[in-house]
Amino acid sequence: MLAVKNVDVYIQASHILRSVSLDVGAREVVCLVGRNGAGKTTTLRTVMGYLRPRAGTITFKGVRVDGRRTHEIARLGVGWAPEDSGIFPDLTVAENIEIATWTRPGGSPAAERLARAYEVFPVLKTYAARKGPEMSGGERKMLSIARALALDPEMLILDEPFEGLSPAIVPVISASIATVTRLGHSILLAESNIHHVPEYADRLYVIERGEVIFAGQPHEAWKDPGVVRVIGGQT
Ligand SMILES: Nc1ncnc2c1ncn2[C@@H]1O[C@H](COP(=O)(O)OP(=O)(O)O)[C@@H](O)[C@H]1O
Ligand SMILES: [Mg+2]
Repeated sequence: MLAVKNVDVYIQASHILRSVSLDVGAREVVCLVGRNGAGKTTTLRTVMGYLRPRAGTITFKGVRVDGRRTHEIARLGVGWAPEDSGIFPDLTVAENIEIATWTRPGGSPAAERLARAYEVFPVLKTYAARKGPEMSGGERKMLSIARALALDPEMLILDEPFEGLSPAIVPVISASIATVTRLGHSILLAESNIHHVPEYADRLYVIERGEVIFAGQPHEAWKDPGVVRVIGGQT
């Protein structure tokens, strides 16, 4: 579904991503794991068209998307929940979700998409009239994922959905993401803590200093000396 091949990205004069390759298949949950500053957000922002690779290619459903604008990529069926949630603080929960149904018309009807977002995150329905500043970090993360889901995407890209959450809320969000995959969406998820990688993840990539140093099954990662060196110290 998504194929990133040998992508190099520079920000000003800094060479940030070095020949990054990764794939996400239909209905797969793929995690991109790496320490802070490793290049996870840069990779995801490049896929979303905020950054342009200097070399390499990105295809989504067989269509070249590198060099395309973000809204075009979203319209092709990629939903994006950024690290900082990126919700509109002046809009209510319901309005934040509804806005996504206008952004990508077609597909299933808006009402159906809203219902799906509330099905995955039932608590948001009870907060429908609240605005951003009245929500906790965990609720904002949920809203950000719910809004991306309301785009009716084939693939969801989530940047650190568990970052800064209380340990009690992590399993709630993890279970909601599992529900999203059961609905048939692919997921690419960035995470800095390997212990937050959901047990249902199909595949894992480990990134370090802008390079992919491991690609494989999550349980194999622990046997890889390079991976253990980078993330083994995490508790
Ligand atoms: N706008 C920017 N300007 C300069 N350097 C940046 C910018 N954004 C990211 N970087 C650098 O790129 C590297 C990767 O950052 P990032 O992709 O945000 O890492 P991660 O998401 O894994 O924490 C870091 O060294 C960071 O300092
Ligand atoms: Mg990041």
